[in-house]
This record gives sequence, structure tokens and C-alpha cells, in this order.
Amino acid sequence: MFYSKLRFIVYLRHIADTPLPHTLYLLFSCSVYQCGAILLADMAHISGLVAGGVVPVSPFKYADVITTTTHKSLRGPRGALIFFRRGLKGTDKKGNNIMYDYEDKINQAVFPGLQGGPHNHTITALAIALKAAGSPEFKAYQEQVIKNSAAMADALQSKGYTLVSGGTENHLVLIDLRDKDVDGARVERVLELADINCNKNTVPGDKSALQPHGLRVGAPAMTTRGLVESDFKQVVEFVDRGIKIAQDVKKSNPTHKLKDFKDTVLNNPPPALAALKKEVQDWAAKFPMPGQFW
Ligand SMILES: Cc1ncc(COP(=O)(O)O)c(C=O)c1O
Repeated sequence: MFYSKLRFIVYLRHIADTPLPHTLYLLFSCSVYQCGAILLADMAHISGLVAGGVVPVSPFKYADVITTTTHKSLRGPRGALIFFRRGLKGTDKKGNNIMYDYEDKINQAVFPGLQGGPHNHTITALAIALKAAGSPEFKAYQEQVIKNSAAMADALQSKGYTLVSGGTENHLVLIDLRDKDVDGARVERVLELADINCNKNTVPGDKSALQPHGLRVGAPAMTTRGLVESDFKQVVEFVDRGIKIAQDVKKSNPTHKLKDFKDTVLNNPPPALAALKKEVQDWAAKFPMPGQFW
């Protein structure tokens, strides 16, 4: 009774980029429905997977408002989209129709509220990306993203790594490094110097977002370059070597702060790091870049 008087927005941001989002959508939408709030899902990370139909549960089934950036797994230009419900929401006690009222509010908030003139070049690129997202090739690509991500999760677990949520249902895995005596910031930097891009990320229990204990590794970019499951096992070999290098550097400089660690790996790198970088470059060069036809 009390809750039905409230009107607020429940913002699902971290759900969309955690490795097991779907059960969480269900939980949130049930409680939001009961208290009359608006459910907003930010599907920025997974919008490509949603467009490709490869997530077991789509946020469109549950959310009243959905936001997404267009430059992540959707593979479009830097930009964003907002979706909202329209039409009949329900009926009141007297049987009168209640309509969704999001359209004008959201449109007005975007323009004139927040946005200036249109960027026609971005809109054109977005139209092309959305057309591509409806194609069978894009669906096949997203299916491969899911397979590659699962292969990466399996390979990491068989090397003894703990994954947050115990696995993945989407395009990324989140490695929990708390039992490895090294943090995500140090590993991120070492891997970056070996030409492997990934992100440090907080894991449950972390106290610092700048020096968290998680490492987030995603499959979409390298799947675009044609990698399949067996290639992602090789990616895990490289990542594992990078983690070991970070562990070794940290061990030999136990008093070093993160800044000193970064100085060391940049200015006085161990030979193993240069060797890893060379191998990564030679190996990655076998896979074509998008738009490269030679
Ligand atoms: C779920 C989610 N929404 C929105 C954003 C914003 O994206 P950007 O900073 O690329 O504009 C991010 C960035 O990582 C995100 O993870």
C-alpha cells in the first residue's frame, strides 16, 4: 500500500554489464512493478547481443525505458539511443485507460533540454550500424561472441582463475584476482604494454575503484577480427602470462605503490614483457582488421 504511492526510477546500470544479468532483470522488474516505479535498463554493454537475439532474456520484455550507447557491442558510432513504452499502460479502478506518458517528457528532455543541433554524420553512421544489426551476418557474429566469451571463461577457470558470478552468459568475463596477490590496475597496465586491451574493474568487496581486484576481458572486438573459440584459448594464454608478469614485478618491489609499479613496467620492463608484446603482435597480425581487404 505504501509503495503504491511512490514514483521513482530504478536504474539498472550494472546489471547490463555484469556477467549474469538475466535473473537480475526478473527480480528487479517484479519488485518495481509491485511498487509502481519506472524500470530503466541501461543496456549499453549488451545492446549488440540484444539486437542479435543471443541473450536469453531481453530487457525489452521488462523495462519501461531502455538506454544504450551505440558504440559498444552494437558496433556503431559514438552515440546513444533511448527507447520508451507507449500506448496502454493499464486501467484504473473505474476501468479508465491509463496511458504511458514517457514520450513527450523524454523527447523534451533530450531536445531542447540537453541536446543542441543534430550531428548528421553520426546519425548516418548510426543508421548504417542499425541496418547491419538487423542482418543475419550480425546475428552470426553475436553468436560467435557468446561462444568465444564462454571459451574464454572455460580456459580461465581451467587455469585456476575465479570468475565473478562463476561464469558468463554474455560478451565478457570478470576475473577476480583477490587470491592472486595482484590487482586489476597493475595487470591492466602490464597487458596494455603488451598490446592487450582490457579493463580493471571492481569486484564484490573492493574498497577502491582506482585499484580494484577485478579484470574485465571482453570478446566483441577480437571476434570482429575473426577469432573463434580456439583462438580465445590463446588469448587466455597471453592474459595469464601478463598476470604472472604483474605478479612477479609486484613481488620483487613489494613496497612499490601503483605509480612506482607503472614507472617500472614502462621504463625498466622485465624481458618477459617485451617477449609477450612481440608474440601478441605477431599472432594478432594474422587476423584482418575490419575494412582490410589485402
Ligand atoms: C552501462 C554503461 N552505460 C553507459 C556508458 C557510457 O559510455 P561512454 O562513456 O562510452 O559514453 C558506459 C560506459 O562504460 C556503460 O558501461
